[in-house]
Amino acid sequence: MPGRVVPVGGPLNDSVQVRSADGGEAVGSGAADGSAEVLVSVADAEQVARLRLPAPVWDFIAGGSGAELTARANLAAFDDIYLVPRVMRGARACDPAAMLIGCEAALPVAVAPIAYQRMIHPDGEVALAAACAKARVPYTIAMLSSMTLEEIAQAGGCLWLQLYWLRDRGVVTELVRRAEAVGCRALVLTVDVPELGRRLRDLRNAFTVPDGVYPANLTHRDLGGGTGPAGPTAPGQSAVASHTAALFDPSLSWSDVAWLAGQTSVPLVLKGILDADDARHAADLGVAGIVVSNHGGRQLDGAVPSITALPWIVDAVAGRCEVFLDSGVRSGLDVLKAVALGANGVMLGRPALWGLALGGAAGAGSILALLTEELRQAMTLAGCPDLSAARALRAMQRLGLLGGPAAT
Ligand SMILES: Cc1cc2nc3c(=O)[nH]c(=O)nc-3n(C[C@H](O)[C@H](O)[C@H](O)COP(=O)(O)O)c2cc1C
Repeated sequence: MPGRVVPVGGPLNDSVQVRSADGGEAVGSGAADGSAEVLVSVADAEQVARLRLPAPVWDFIAGGSGAELTARANLAAFDDIYLVPRVMRGARACDPAAMLIGCEAALPVAVAPIAYQRMIHPDGEVALAAACAKARVPYTIAMLSSMTLEEIAQAGGCLWLQLYWLRDRGVVTELVRRAEAVGCRALVLTVDVPELGRRLRDLRNAFTVPDGVYPANLTHRDLGGGTGPAGPTAPGQSAVASHTAALFDPSLSWSDVAWLAGQTSVPLVLKGILDADDARHAADLGVAGIVVSNHGGRQLDGAVPSITALPWIVDAVAGRCEVFLDSGVRSGLDVLKAVALGANGVMLGRPALWGLALGGAAGAGSILALLTEELRQAMTLAGCPDLSAARALRAMQRLGLLGGPAAT
C-alpha cells in the first residue's frame, strides 16, 4: 500500500522518515515535528520537496525549456517501455554492482552534475557527495557548484568533475588541475549548452540565485568581474541565463574536445549527446564515456527523449566507450530499463535534489536506498542475477521490440 505523505513545510534541514519498499526498517530519520512522513517512492519525495522549497527555487529545479515538451516526454518515454521478464534461473540473490569509468559502484547509478546545491540545503554539495560515498555511487561535482571542489572532495567516494566550455580556456584548465589534485576519476564535459535553453518559469520569476549562493569554484576574475547568477534581474530575465551567456563559449567543437583530452590523463566523458553520428565521432576520439542526455528537458525543447535515443547510441559506439543515460530516471525500474536498452549506467538528476531537500545527506541517502531496493526487486522479478543478465533482457515499446538481442 502506498505510504502516507504528510506535508509539514518545515525548515529545509528537517529529516523525514523513509521506509523501504517492503515496509521494513526506516532508512531516513524522523520528521522534526514528529509527524510520520512515509515515502515509498521517489514521486513521494518530489511532492514533499515541492512543499518545502521556495517557489522560484522549485521552478528552477523542476522547469524545462519552452513548453517543457521534452521534460514531459522524458517521463512518458520511460513509461512506454516494457520489459520481458525471464523466469526459473535458479538465482538466490541479485547483485546490481557495476564498474562505471573505473569506479566500483554498488549499482549502475551516478549522481548527475547539478549547479548551486546550497539553494536546496545549507549543506549543499558536501551532503549529497557524502550520501553518494555512503551508497557507493559516483558523485559528479558541477563546475558551477556552490562549494569548492576541494571542500566537496572531503566527502570521499568516487568523484567526477563536470566542466562547461568557458570563453576563458585558462579557467577550464585550472579546474582540470584542481580536479587532478583532489583525485577526481573522470571529467564530464557538458556539450549541450552553447547557451541556456529558454526556461520560461525562470523568466517569469526573474530568477536569481538566492543570497549567499555563488559559483564557489570560480573567482571574481573568472566571472569577468560581473555579479554572476545572483545579479539583479527584471521581469522576463533570468540571472542564470545572463551569467551563462557571459561565461560560456558557444563555439565548442570536436577539435576542442581533442585538445582537452590531450591536457590530462583523467578519463573524459561527453554529456549531452543524442545523435548516433555524434556518438561515433566521440568514440573515434577515444572518450571514455558518453552521457545520452537532453539535460532533463532544459535545453532544446522538442529534443528526443534520451531513453528513445539510447539504443541508437549503443549501436553506434558498439562497445568502444561506456554509455550513460540521464533525463527522466525516476525509479529503480527505470534504471533496469536503461540497462536493458544497453546503458552501462544512468545519471540521477532531480530525484537526488528532492532527497537533499528532504533532509540533507540523510534525505539524499534515503533516495539512493529506495532506488537500490527498487532496482534489486525489479532485477529479481525480471530473473536477472546481475547486470549482464539485465542487459540481455528484451524490451518492448508499445510499437514493438526495442534493443537487446534478437529473439531466438
Ligand atoms: C537544477 C538543475 C541544475 C543543473 N545543473 C547542471 C550543471 O551545472 N551541469 C550539467 O551538466 N547539467 C546540469 N543539470 C542537468 C543534469 O545534470 C541532468 O542532465 C538532468 O537533471 C537529468 O534529468 P532529470 O533531472 O530529469 O533526471 C542540471 C539540472 C537541474 C535540474
